[in-house]
Amino acid sequence: MIPATSSTPPLAELRGIGKTYGTGEHAVDALVGADLAIYPGEDMIIEGPSGSGKTTLISILGLLLRATTGSIRIGDREVGQLGERDLPALRAKTFGFVFQGFNLFPALTALENVALAIRMKDGKAKDPEGQARALLERVGLGPRAHHLPADMSGGQKQRVAIARALGGDPPILVGDEPTAALDTKTALSVMELLRGLASEHGRAVVVVTHDPRLERFADRVVRVEDGRIESNLPRLAQAS
Ligand SMILES: Nc1ncnc2c1ncn2[C@@H]1O[C@H](COP(=O)(O)OP(=O)(O)OP(=O)(O)O)[C@@H](O)[C@H]1O
Ligand SMILES: [Mg+2]
Repeated sequence: MIPATSSTPPLAELRGIGKTYGTGEHAVDALVGADLAIYPGEDMIIEGPSGSGKTTLISILGLLLRATTGSIRIGDREVGQLGERDLPALRAKTFGFVFQGFNLFPALTALENVALAIRMKDGKAKDPEGQARALLERVGLGPRAHHLPADMSGGQKQRVAIARALGGDPPILVGDEPTAALDTKTALSVMELLRGLASEHGRAVVVVTHDPRLERFADRVVRVEDGRIESNLPRLAQAS
């Protein structure tokens, strides 16, 4: 859901972000002057061709990668003013991540995978198992809580990874091609789940994909071409 007025402050804002990998003749300008704001409750898709800069963009947004130029604001904090030591805590508090590979611990059950992530985010978390069970219920996997990843389908594993990303209730869920390893039907149901999550607790969901079939799941489609954000409009405005 897009906020009705522009007076709602963004959860996160990137301004004039540039990223250059390497130096000299090997330098690659992966992003140039990118501006992006993420508002509470919206679900956004970032699309664009391979190599256009999508992963770079969301890695910078998620504080996994430093930009070369530009500034980032998370809530009321300027990230540039934070030391390296403060970044991991702000990242853990603000973002949940879902990737194409599910990255689950194979020897741990679904419940143990999610509970471990909750403990790693907050050593003092109350009843991590109870929280993990509730999150697995939320993603439709209550009955599979005690299964190992090897005994689950790709879609079920991705749901566990989504439950894990929701640990600590971060305001922004970021996905880099979370459906790329899934068949169409499963991919659509995972996108449906992500879309539903965007309307809970004012959470925003930002998903990178190059699958145009998934566009209809978003309020806002951001297109990245050759390191530049080409369009950043609500879907309804684009259609008119
Ligand atoms: N660690 C790196 N070192 C050097 N160049 C890199 C690095 N990571 C990405 N690049 C380059 O930066 C550009 C943008 O890459 P990025 O991974 O952000 O693209 P993408 O849109 O996510 O692509 P894909 O759809 O294939 O995942 C590409 O030209 C890529 O080769
Ligand atoms: Mg990528």
